[in-house]
Amino acid sequence: MARFPDNFLWGGATSAAQVEGGRCEDGKGLSHLDYVYYRGPKVPCNFMLKNDLAKARAEEATLNFPNRRGIDFYHRYKEDIALLAEMGFKSFRMSVSWTRLFPTGKEDEPCRDGVEFYHNVFRELHKYGIEPLVTMIHYELPIGFVDEFGAWESPEIIPYCYKYLKFLIDEYKDEVKYWLTFNEINMVTAVPWLGGGIILDRFEDGFEIPKDFRPFAPLPPQMSERWENASHQALHHQFIASAMIVKYAHETAPNCLIGNMFNLHHLYPETPAPQDALRAHQETEFNMFFCDVMAKGYYPKWIQSYYKKNNIDVKFVDNYEEILAQGKVDFISLSYYLSSIVTADPKRQERIGSFIRTLHNPYLETSDFGWQIDPTALRISLNELRDRFNLPIYIVENGLGAFEELNEEKTVHDDYRIAYLRSHIEAIAQAIEDGVDVIGYTPWGCIDLVSCSLVSMSKRYGFVYVDADDEGNGTYDRYRKDSFYWYKKVIASNGEDLD
Ligand code: BG6
Repeated sequence: MARFPDNFLWGGATSAAQVEGGRCEDGKGLSHLDYVYYRGPKVPCNFMLKNDLAKARAEEATLNFPNRRGIDFYHRYKEDIALLAEMGFKSFRMSVSWTRLFPTGKEDEPCRDGVEFYHNVFRELHKYGIEPLVTMIHYELPIGFVDEFGAWESPEIIPYCYKYLKFLIDEYKDEVKYWLTFNEINMVTAVPWLGGGIILDRFEDGFEIPKDFRPFAPLPPQMSERWENASHQALHHQFIASAMIVKYAHETAPNCLIGNMFNLHHLYPETPAPQDALRAHQETEFNMFFCDVMAKGYYPKWIQSYYKKNNIDVKFVDNYEEILAQGKVDFISLSYYLSSIVTADPKRQERIGSFIRTLHNPYLETSDFGWQIDPTALRISLNELRDRFNLPIYIVENGLGAFEELNEEKTVHDDYRIAYLRSHIEAIAQAIEDGVDVIGYTPWGCIDLVSCSLVSMSKRYGFVYVDADDEGNGTYDRYRKDSFYWYKKVIASNGEDLD
């Protein structure tokens, strides 16, 4: 018996900010991600301080902003889509750039060149029978909203966002069936700049990031409390905007299906000690909370106690319960890269902004970037999601980031990537056998693209190598890696041939 359904949506995933380039071309405006500058091949830059933003502006001519270049998809999309078609893609996840359509976010009319660009991309995909899967907001927002009212922290953004989202449905509903509202909506509580345009020291002057600071490491307690408050406020506004557009699409575009998108974080207790198990359970509930609100249409009760206990004072918008109840998503979508271990021991547990930092799991291997590779956790989580929501599941991100170089044969022997993907596809097949309704799989960065956390080119995920380095040197020509031919075989055999 076939392990994957006939219409399984095999494909790959990207986002506008990480591939398009074409900065300011044809009327495009600048987004908050265009101000993130490169600091080194392993230096995370997901956080922004007032001084950083001021520096990005003052030294705009000399700093390195890789998102502004992307991989030049804006000019090379035909070549790229032909490569995806050669692999046999059925589905391509991409995002639409808010600032390519509404350069400052405030225009009444969209920028016509931007509108045409996406029509052209969708047309090109359909030419090869590839179904677009479109993320409406993959982290990006117009930079002016950061300056003017603190971006997603303020309810002022909702009407502007709703106008943009409505435009997407009205304009593209006949070309795009599958939509996602916010990419990894839970990231706004972990990395508020990335997910919500929130500047870390917005409330404090003279706040300095500790020298050994990295994502998910603790901030000073007072800072952390404000940050958590701001990020949950921003999250609330995103939940509202998402539910509003789901309702609108259900009313006006019945052929469209809209999903949420969250970063699935599978957690194990470090030991069988009940306190560790409780901790893992609580963190798992936290991870599921983001899905609960969007798929069930209400805030779970426990989150109110959590807010109270942690002095989080979310100002709920009028009628929020009704808005959420009327905007339940049609399917669950998720990104999955790694699993984590938690302990109840506060001395060893680092926790910040509703996110945890993992302990080492001796049973797992790690990637070049320390991410713990665990296909079994994906199978477990898929089963849990089936039980909790009973909705179709689209796995829209998964993959292995690695440092790679083109060899003399002009390819990359990426057997480690093949091994990673093979084990995860195997886990998905087993989950389907367990009764989970998985409808598609789009591994991340199917063509090398700019890393989100590092804004580098040197962290690569692709089946296709892009000849560009962190500084923007290179031809930007595309080359097929070994995994390209392997994935082509996987798709042609509908997941039967994984060798
Ligand atoms: C997800 C994001 O968090 O992970 C992507 O949705 C991102 O935008 C991907 O690129 C991988 O992260 P990174 O930092 O390795 O690019």
